[in-house]
Amino acid sequence: MNKDIESILFTEAEIKAKVKEIGEQITKDFAGKNVVLVGVLKGAFVFLSDLVRCIDLDCSVDFLTASSYGKGAVSSGKVTIAKDVGGSLEGKDVIVVEDILDSGVTMTFLKKYLAERNPESISVCTLLDKPDRRITDVKADYFGFISPNEFLVGYGLDYAEKYRNLPYIGILKPEIYN
Ligand code: IMP
Ligand code: MG
Repeated sequence: MNKDIESILFTEAEIKAKVKEIGEQITKDFAGKNVVLVGVLKGAFVFLSDLVRCIDLDCSVDFLTASSYGKGAVSSGKVTIAKDVGGSLEGKDVIVVEDILDSGVTMTFLKKYLAERNPESISVCTLLDKPDRRITDVKADYFGFISPNEFLVGYGLDYAEKYRNLPYIGILKPEIYN
């Protein structure tokens, strides 16, 4: 285990099983639809790459970069788009793929932003959900795990750009970010 990790919350095997489950559910729910998965960079890149291989549909993949976290562990509350989706979303069934839904500020902004592209529908799929931290009215249509109110890293989630490569999700030792 990485020396900066206090404990492992979700193992590689647990994540794998959960991602498969979500992929199968999406496959059922979106049969015959025109799906585009929009990954929120950078955090969602690992989750999306595993998830898309568990979805048995004709679908496309796009990305955008949204950022409300600077280097710190607390949201600045201001969302910016650094990289936008490349293709048209007109008439598409958009599934926004996130690593973690925390305050909800980012996803609330993104849903409004993407709705302006006239998609057929917008759904939210997040691997982790911290519902107790929510300050906006946004819900995940698909989620993997409810997360405790701790700072998590691994499987795409970072602190100051580190730990994204850990194959598990762990609780970061508070002394790293305090
Ligand atoms: P929100 O706008 O507060 O919901 O924040 C969402 C974004 O904050 C996520 O996409 C993550 O990139 C980041 N974030 C929130 N909680 C954590 C965490 O525990 N570890 C790493 N990143 C987090
Ligand atoms: Mg993120």
